[in-house]
Amino acid sequence: MPTPSHPPTVTDVAVELRHITMRYQAKRGRTVLALDDVSLTVPEGQFVSIVGPSGCGKSTLLKIILGLTRQSEGEVAFGPARSHENLLGMVFQQPLLLPWRTVAKNMTISHDVGPRRPRADLDKRVAEHLDMLGLRDFADQYPRELSGGMQQRVGIGRALLHDPRILLMDEPFGALDAMTRDQMGLDLLDIWERDRKTVLFVTHSIPEAVLLSDRVVVMTPRPGRIAEVIDVDLARPRRLEDINTPEFGEIASRIRVLLNSEHSAH
Ligand SMILES: Nc1ncnc2c1ncn2[C@@H]1O[C@H](COP(=O)(O)OP(=O)(O)OP(=O)(O)O)[C@@H](O)[C@H]1O
Ligand SMILES: [Mg+2]
Repeated sequence: MPTPSHPPTVTDVAVELRHITMRYQAKRGRTVLALDDVSLTVPEGQFVSIVGPSGCGKSTLLKIILGLTRQSEGEVAFGPARSHENLLGMVFQQPLLLPWRTVAKNMTISHDVGPRRPRADLDKRVAEHLDMLGLRDFADQYPRELSGGMQQRVGIGRALLHDPRILLMDEPFGALDAMTRDQMGLDLLDIWERDRKTVLFVTHSIPEAVLLSDRVVVMTPRPGRIAEVIDVDLARPRRLEDINTPEFGEIASRIRVLLNSEHSAH
Protein backbone atom coordinates (compact mmCIF):
# COMPACT_ATOMS: atom_id res chain seq x y z
CA MET A 1 0.00 0.00 0.00
CA PRO A 2 1.35 3.42 -0.86
CA THR A 3 1.97 5.63 2.10
CA PRO A 4 -0.29 8.67 2.00
CA SER A 5 1.70 11.83 1.39
CA HIS A 6 -0.35 13.65 3.97
CA PRO A 7 -0.84 11.49 7.02
CA PRO A 8 -3.95 12.39 8.97
CA THR A 9 -3.15 15.00 11.60
CA VAL A 10 -3.48 13.63 15.07
CA THR A 11 -3.46 16.01 17.96
CA ASP A 12 -0.65 15.00 20.24
CA VAL A 13 -1.44 14.58 23.87
CA ALA A 14 0.57 16.82 26.20
CA VAL A 15 -0.53 15.20 29.42
CA GLU A 16 -3.12 12.68 30.44
CA LEU A 17 -4.43 12.22 33.97
CA ARG A 18 -5.79 8.74 34.52
CA HIS A 19 -8.03 8.12 37.50
CA ILE A 20 -6.07 10.31 39.89
CA THR A 21 -7.07 9.94 43.52
CA MET A 22 -5.31 11.73 46.36
CA ARG A 23 -5.64 10.98 50.04
CA TYR A 24 -3.69 13.10 52.49
CA GLN A 25 -2.83 11.74 55.92
CA ALA A 26 -4.42 14.06 58.45
CA LYS A 27 -4.14 14.10 62.25
CA ARG A 28 -5.02 11.07 64.41
CA GLY A 29 -4.82 8.65 61.50
CA ARG A 30 -7.62 10.33 59.60
CA THR A 31 -7.29 10.77 55.88
CA VAL A 32 -8.54 13.61 53.72
CA LEU A 33 -9.80 12.65 50.31
CA ALA A 34 -8.63 15.61 48.23
CA LEU A 35 -9.10 14.26 44.71
CA ASP A 36 -11.41 11.48 43.66
CA ASP A 37 -10.92 9.71 40.33
CA VAL A 38 -9.89 12.68 38.18
CA SER A 39 -9.28 11.87 34.52
CA LEU A 40 -8.42 14.48 31.92
CA THR A 41 -6.64 14.53 28.57
CA VAL A 42 -4.93 17.75 27.58
CA PRO A 43 -3.91 17.98 23.92
CA GLU A 44 -0.67 19.70 23.01
CA GLY A 45 -1.02 23.46 22.70
CA GLN A 46 -4.32 23.81 24.54
CA PHE A 47 -4.98 26.44 27.15
CA VAL A 48 -6.99 24.73 29.88
CA SER A 49 -8.29 26.47 33.00
CA ILE A 50 -9.32 24.73 36.18
CA VAL A 51 -11.94 26.36 38.39
CA GLY A 52 -13.51 25.08 41.58
CA PRO A 53 -14.18 25.98 45.19
CA SER A 54 -11.37 26.48 47.66
CA GLY A 55 -10.01 23.17 48.92
CA CYS A 56 -11.22 21.08 45.96
CA GLY A 57 -7.71 19.96 45.12
CA LYS A 58 -6.63 22.29 42.29
CA SER A 59 -3.17 22.98 43.72
CA THR A 60 -2.85 19.32 44.61
CA LEU A 61 -3.55 18.39 41.00
CA LEU A 62 -0.84 20.72 39.67
CA LYS A 63 1.63 19.46 42.30
CA ILE A 64 0.94 15.89 41.23
CA ILE A 65 1.60 16.77 37.58
CA LEU A 66 4.78 18.59 38.62
CA GLY A 67 5.89 15.58 40.65
CA LEU A 68 6.03 17.50 43.94
CA THR A 69 3.27 15.34 45.39
CA ARG A 70 2.72 11.65 44.73
CA GLN A 71 -0.87 10.64 44.01
CA SER A 72 -2.45 7.80 46.00
CA GLU A 73 -3.90 6.17 42.92
CA GLY A 74 -3.89 6.63 39.18
CA GLU A 75 -1.23 7.86 36.84
CA VAL A 76 0.04 10.88 34.97
CA ALA A 77 1.23 10.20 31.43
CA PHE A 78 3.06 12.74 29.29
CA GLY A 79 3.31 12.82 25.52
CA PRO A 80 6.54 11.42 24.05
CA ALA A 81 9.59 13.40 25.16
CA ARG A 82 11.57 15.40 22.66
CA SER A 83 15.27 15.85 23.08
CA HIS A 84 16.69 19.02 24.65
CA GLU A 85 13.36 19.96 26.01
CA ASN A 86 12.13 20.93 29.43
CA LEU A 87 8.84 19.32 30.18
CA LEU A 88 7.34 21.49 32.90
CA GLY A 89 7.39 25.06 34.14
CA MET A 90 5.44 26.21 37.18
CA VAL A 91 4.19 29.62 38.24
CA PHE A 92 3.03 29.76 41.84
CA GLN A 93 0.49 32.11 43.37
CA GLN A 94 3.28 34.02 45.11
CA PRO A 95 6.26 34.92 42.93
CA LEU A 96 8.69 33.24 45.40
CA LEU A 97 11.68 35.34 44.38
CA LEU A 98 14.95 35.28 46.29
CA PRO A 99 15.36 38.76 47.81
CA TRP A 100 19.16 38.73 47.53
CA ARG A 101 19.20 38.01 43.82
CA THR A 102 18.52 40.56 41.12
CA VAL A 103 15.64 40.18 38.68
CA ALA A 104 17.93 38.64 36.04
CA LYS A 105 19.51 36.29 38.60
CA ASN A 106 16.09 35.24 39.85
CA MET A 107 15.12 34.30 36.30
CA THR A 108 18.08 31.95 35.98
CA ILE A 109 17.67 30.16 39.32
CA SER A 110 16.81 26.79 37.84
CA HIS A 111 19.81 27.10 35.54
CA ASP A 112 22.10 27.81 38.47
CA VAL A 113 20.78 25.12 40.81
CA GLY A 114 19.77 22.50 38.23
CA PRO A 115 21.94 20.19 36.19
CA ARG A 116 24.68 22.06 34.33
CA ARG A 117 23.54 23.15 30.95
CA PRO A 118 25.44 25.24 28.45
CA ARG A 119 25.24 28.89 29.35
CA ALA A 120 25.64 29.85 25.70
CA ASP A 121 22.69 32.04 24.92
CA LEU A 122 21.31 32.29 28.43
CA ASP A 123 21.98 36.01 28.86
CA LYS A 124 20.39 36.70 25.49
CA ARG A 125 17.29 34.75 26.42
CA VAL A 126 17.03 36.50 29.77
CA ALA A 127 17.14 39.84 27.95
CA GLU A 128 14.48 38.71 25.46
CA HIS A 129 12.18 37.54 28.23
CA LEU A 130 12.65 40.72 30.25
CA ASP A 131 11.76 42.68 27.13
CA MET A 132 8.68 40.63 26.49
CA LEU A 133 7.52 41.07 30.08
CA GLY A 134 8.15 44.81 30.07
CA LEU A 135 10.99 44.50 32.57
CA ARG A 136 13.90 45.50 30.37
CA ASP A 137 15.09 48.26 32.67
CA PHE A 138 14.81 46.19 35.82
CA ALA A 139 17.30 43.38 35.21
CA ASP A 140 19.66 44.57 37.94
CA GLN A 141 17.03 45.64 40.47
CA TYR A 142 16.09 43.56 43.49
CA PRO A 143 12.59 42.13 44.03
CA ARG A 144 11.79 44.60 46.85
CA GLU A 145 12.23 47.42 44.34
CA LEU A 146 9.43 46.06 42.11
CA SER A 147 5.65 46.23 42.38
CA GLY A 148 3.67 43.06 43.09
CA GLY A 149 2.67 42.75 39.43
CA MET A 150 6.24 43.15 38.26
CA GLN A 151 7.43 40.51 40.73
CA GLN A 152 4.79 38.14 39.43
CA ARG A 153 5.99 38.80 35.89
CA VAL A 154 9.50 37.79 36.98
CA GLY A 155 7.97 34.54 38.29
CA ILE A 156 6.33 33.97 34.91
CA GLY A 157 9.57 34.82 33.09
CA ARG A 158 11.46 32.36 35.26
CA ALA A 159 9.04 29.59 34.25
CA LEU A 160 9.09 30.55 30.54
CA LEU A 161 12.85 31.02 30.28
CA HIS A 162 13.55 27.34 29.86
CA ASP A 163 10.83 26.99 27.28
CA PRO A 164 8.83 24.26 29.03
CA ARG A 165 6.47 22.20 26.93
CA ILE A 166 3.77 22.46 29.60
CA LEU A 167 3.22 25.54 31.74
CA LEU A 168 1.44 24.99 35.06
CA MET A 169 0.02 28.15 36.64
CA ASP A 170 -1.58 28.15 40.10
CA GLU A 171 -3.63 31.33 40.49
CA PRO A 172 -0.72 33.36 39.13
CA PHE A 173 -2.67 36.62 39.21
CA GLY A 174 -4.49 36.01 42.48
CA ALA A 175 -2.60 38.63 44.45
CA LEU A 176 -2.92 41.39 41.85
CA ASP A 177 -5.37 44.27 41.63
CA ALA A 178 -8.12 43.95 39.00
CA MET A 179 -6.54 46.19 36.35
CA THR A 180 -3.07 44.69 36.59
CA ARG A 181 -4.70 41.30 36.54
CA ASP A 182 -6.57 41.98 33.30
CA GLN A 183 -3.41 43.29 31.71
CA MET A 184 -1.38 40.27 32.85
CA GLY A 185 -4.02 37.95 31.42
CA LEU A 186 -3.80 39.70 28.05
CA ASP A 187 0.00 39.65 28.15
CA LEU A 188 -0.11 35.95 28.86
CA LEU A 189 -2.43 35.46 25.88
CA ASP A 190 0.05 37.32 23.66
CA ILE A 191 2.85 35.04 24.79
CA TRP A 192 0.65 32.01 24.34
CA GLU A 193 -0.43 33.07 20.83
CA ARG A 194 3.25 33.25 19.87
CA ASP A 195 4.24 29.71 20.69
CA ARG A 196 1.08 27.94 21.80
CA LYS A 197 2.38 26.12 24.80
CA THR A 198 0.17 23.75 26.67
CA VAL A 199 -1.09 25.67 29.70
CA LEU A 200 -2.90 24.41 32.79
CA PHE A 201 -4.17 27.48 34.57
CA VAL A 202 -5.87 27.48 37.99
CA THR A 203 -8.02 30.51 38.74
CA HIS A 204 -10.94 31.61 40.91
CA SER A 205 -12.10 34.07 38.27
CA ILE A 206 -14.70 32.75 35.83
CA PRO A 207 -14.25 35.65 33.32
CA GLU A 208 -10.48 35.12 33.40
CA ALA A 209 -10.92 31.40 32.75
CA VAL A 210 -13.26 32.01 29.81
CA LEU A 211 -11.20 34.83 28.30
CA LEU A 212 -7.98 32.82 28.26
CA SER A 213 -9.01 29.23 27.68
CA ASP A 214 -9.86 26.67 25.05
CA ARG A 215 -11.50 24.56 27.74
CA VAL A 216 -12.54 25.16 31.34
CA VAL A 217 -12.51 22.26 33.78
CA VAL A 218 -15.13 22.81 36.49
CA MET A 219 -14.46 20.89 39.70
CA THR A 220 -16.75 19.91 42.56
CA PRO A 221 -16.11 20.80 46.22
CA ARG A 222 -13.82 18.40 48.10
CA PRO A 223 -13.32 15.65 47.29
CA GLY A 224 -12.49 17.21 43.95
CA ARG A 225 -14.00 15.55 40.95
CA ILE A 226 -14.50 16.93 37.48
CA ALA A 227 -18.08 18.21 37.28
CA GLU A 228 -17.83 19.17 33.62
CA VAL A 229 -15.39 20.31 30.99
CA ILE A 230 -16.71 23.32 29.07
CA ASP A 231 -15.45 24.14 25.57
CA VAL A 232 -14.80 27.82 24.96
CA ASP A 233 -15.24 28.14 21.22
CA LEU A 234 -14.76 31.91 21.01
CA ALA A 235 -12.60 33.28 18.20
CA ARG A 236 -8.95 34.13 18.84
CA PRO A 237 -7.10 36.36 19.32
CA ARG A 238 -9.29 37.52 22.18
CA ARG A 239 -9.65 40.99 23.58
CA LEU A 240 -10.85 42.26 26.92
CA GLU A 241 -14.00 43.65 25.23
CA ASP A 242 -15.00 40.08 24.37
CA ILE A 243 -16.17 39.81 27.97
CA ASN A 244 -19.17 41.94 27.02
CA THR A 245 -20.41 39.71 24.19
CA PRO A 246 -23.49 37.49 24.66
CA GLU A 247 -21.49 34.37 23.68
CA PHE A 248 -18.99 35.07 26.43
CA GLY A 249 -21.74 35.73 28.97
CA GLU A 250 -23.46 32.49 28.07
CA ILE A 251 -20.35 30.38 28.70
CA ALA A 252 -19.50 32.26 31.91
CA SER A 253 -22.99 31.79 33.26
CA ARG A 254 -22.94 28.06 32.45
CA ILE A 255 -19.82 27.75 34.56
CA ARG A 256 -21.31 29.86 37.33
CA VAL A 257 -24.47 27.74 37.44
CA LEU A 258 -22.36 24.57 37.57
CA LEU A 259 -20.25 25.88 40.43
CA ASN A 260 -23.33 27.01 42.36
CA SER A 261 -25.21 23.76 41.88
CA GLU A 262 -22.14 21.78 42.91
CA HIS A 263 -21.91 23.93 46.03
CA SER A 264 -25.53 23.43 47.03
CA ALA A 265 -25.40 19.69 46.30
CA HIS A 266 -23.03 19.31 49.26
N1 LIG B 1 0.09 18.62 52.54
C1 LIG B 1 -1.17 18.39 52.90
N2 LIG B 1 -1.48 17.60 53.95
C2 LIG B 1 -2.75 17.36 54.31
N3 LIG B 1 -3.82 17.85 53.63
C3 LIG B 1 -3.58 18.64 52.59
C4 LIG B 1 -2.24 18.96 52.16
N4 LIG B 1 -2.32 19.78 51.08
C5 LIG B 1 -3.64 19.95 50.84
N5 LIG B 1 -4.39 19.28 51.73
C6 LIG B 1 -5.87 19.21 51.76
O1 LIG B 1 -6.31 18.80 50.48
C7 LIG B 1 -7.44 19.54 50.07
C8 LIG B 1 -7.15 20.20 48.72
O2 LIG B 1 -6.14 21.20 48.90
P1 LIG B 1 -5.62 22.10 47.70
O3 LIG B 1 -4.61 23.01 48.23
O4 LIG B 1 -5.23 21.21 46.58
O5 LIG B 1 -6.95 22.89 47.31
P2 LIG B 1 -7.18 24.07 46.27
O6 LIG B 1 -8.30 23.65 45.37
O7 LIG B 1 -5.90 24.45 45.64
O8 LIG B 1 -7.73 25.25 47.21
P3 LIG B 1 -7.52 26.86 47.07
O9 LIG B 1 -8.49 27.28 45.99
O10 LIG B 1 -7.94 27.37 48.40
O11 LIG B 1 -6.09 27.12 46.74
C9 LIG B 1 -7.75 20.51 51.21
O12 LIG B 1 -8.75 19.95 52.01
C10 LIG B 1 -6.46 20.58 51.98
O13 LIG B 1 -6.71 20.79 53.34
MG1 LIG C 1 -4.71 26.18 45.69
